[in-house]
Amino acid sequence: MSLTAMFSSSAILSVAFELFMLANARPFATGDLNGETVEVSSLGAMAKSSIAVHPGAKISTLEEVLDLIDCYGDKKVQINLETKLDPENPNQTLSVDTYIDNLVPILQRRGYADRTYIQSFDWRTLIGIKKKFPKTRTVALLDDTTVVPSGNLGFTWLGGIDLQKDFAGDWVKAAHSINATALSPVHGVPSSVNTPGYKPFTTAAIVSQAHELGMIVVPWTVDDEVTIDKMFRRVIHTSQGIE
Ligand SMILES: *[C@@H]1O[C@H](CO)[C@@H](O)[C@H](O)[C@H]1NC(C)=O
Ligand SMILES: *[C@@H]1O[C@H](CO)[C@@H](O)[C@H](O)[C@H]1NC(C)=O
Repeated sequence: MSLTAMFSSSAILSVAFELFMLANARPFATGDLNGETVEVSSLGAMAKSSIAVHPGAKISTLEEVLDLIDCYGDKKVQINLETKLDPENPNQTLSVDTYIDNLVPILQRRGYADRTYIQSFDWRTLIGIKKKFPKTRTVALLDDTTVVPSGNLGFTWLGGIDLQKDFAGDWVKAAHSINATALSPVHGVPSSVNTPGYKPFTTAAIVSQAHELGMIVVPWTVDDEVTIDKMFRRVIHTSQGIE
């Protein structure tokens, strides 16, 4: 699980983390998210080379992250929780049903269900969670690689939607069809507007279409100043169609 927290001088404003349920390392027993912790160094393929691994460091469980947030005693803290699994590599993690069945009950028991957004590139989790726990706020993550078919496998990331056949390629409508609270597309590719060949993905047209359908728009991951500035302009000047 990786953890990103936004702090102000006195409080955490929001906490975002990514939840892996690893099949091989088994940090969580099936049906029980409160299982043993797992050593970061045993993550193998899931560990990114850019992340410093401290010997003996443990990956926190969901419950431990909630314990940490509880320490601040601020009931307004919001959580953005990303389910991490890859529909094309199902045995890297526990099953999609484990995510669907187990996450929300823990959040409910701990008093976090109403302050959590569950986001995923793998829309199977969003659709399944929404069906079982209809009040859950979901965030449909997207980028240029998840809105195209994976060879013969079709649109593996979109939870059974055939984007071409069902929505003529319109992924804003597709996200709306799964009742996502928010649309969360990559801002553009590659990583910064300063990178040669940069192409916006979250365009002004996308933003206004999503707003018309009642979804908020949360482009990811906008973390350098020029790109932040550009995104603000794109959103603010939506009606003029500035790119
Ligand atoms: C994961 O599953 C694929 C087939 O879907 C198989 O080829 C591969 O050996 C499996 N890997 C592990 C580590 O079990
Ligand atoms: C979306 O909401 C509509 C209306 O409440 C419902 O009929 C439909 O089953 C929902 N679809 C999903 C994928 O949650």
